[in-house]
Amino acid sequence: MTAVLFTCAGQRVDIVGAFRRAGATAIATDANPLAPALYAADEHALVPRIDDPGYLPALRALVQEHDVQLVVPLTDLDQVLLARGCDELSGALVLLPAAEIVERLEDKYLAHVLFEERGIASPPTWLPGNVPDDAAFPLLVKARHGFGSRHIYRAADRAQLGFFLGYTPVDSIVQACLAGEEFSIDVFCDLEGRCLNAIPRTMIESKGGESIKGMSIKDEALIELARDVAESLGVVGPANIQCFREADGTHFITDINTRFGGGFPLPLAAGGRYPELALALARGERPEPRLGDFREGIVMTRFFSDLSLTPNGDGTLKPLAPAE
Ligand SMILES: Nc1ncnc2c1ncn2[C@@H]1O[C@H](COP(=O)(O)OP(=O)(O)O)[C@@H](O)[C@H]1O
Ligand SMILES: [Mg+2]
Repeated sequence: MTAVLFTCAGQRVDIVGAFRRAGATAIATDANPLAPALYAADEHALVPRIDDPGYLPALRALVQEHDVQLVVPLTDLDQVLLARGCDELSGALVLLPAAEIVERLEDKYLAHVLFEERGIASPPTWLPGNVPDDAAFPLLVKARHGFGSRHIYRAADRAQLGFFLGYTPVDSIVQACLAGEEFSIDVFCDLEGRCLNAIPRTMIESKGGESIKGMSIKDEALIELARDVAESLGVVGPANIQCFREADGTHFITDINTRFGGGFPLPLAAGGRYPELALALARGERPEPRLGDFREGIVMTRFFSDLSLTPNGDGTLKPLAPAE
């Protein structure tokens, strides 16, 4: 059995469960005892908050205690910390790209500059003070360190741009607003940055920045685009690549998350076997790429679920045994 430590487990019951079904022993961590995914794991532990200097040492102690071979961050929150501190985790493999890439992707302006450097098409993007006079509207005011579609405003003209730049409470960028169809591609890469698979999906419906309805599609252009982008950035492990296809067929990358996407159930149902690939990497194996090897036309429709907990008697909680 390979022991896998999940950080910021939150609500990712789907991912923890999929790794267990793939043969992992799951250890889930979160700062909040009401994070549902804690109770979906074989073992769980409450850890300090990410901004607490005790965070990495707490993870290191868990790695040692459970002989953890693989660390999988489930949110964006601790990725920079883990990518920088991966040598402090007692030899466990941290499923992240180089710290520099993680840091730059977390900042939407630096990500845009990185995309340009690597020849990856990204919509024209500026810092608020540098928007050229001839920039074509509509423009988006987007949170520079945003997530979950928070703090994104569409400005129809220069007056609205000025208004939204004053109105937004967060550090922002200004970006050309694309009119085409949005797609999301879930990739998985090995430790050398080879893309092992890329599974595109349509965005039928999103809520709060999360895809809740979508369909896997075997779109060769999107598979090639995602492989290209992932390999030129040196992605390691999972990443979710978001792009728009414009009327003339060109693609622009708008956002990349170096973790399992919110739509994880779809590439899983389509046969991507990403948990198995992650476990193979942790065992030191070198699985061969099988790009395009997945089922198209699989439709995902997501819904809320719930868990009832009861006191354990020692201040902790445990799942309520299902009624007989
Ligand atoms: N340049 C753009 N043009 C049109 N829509 C965009 C653009 N950038 C983002 N969006 C929309 O806003 C959503 C969130 O933006 P994104 O860049 O993915 O930020 P995050 O997911 O980190 O909040 C996207 O899924 C997309 O629907
Ligand atoms: Mg996004």
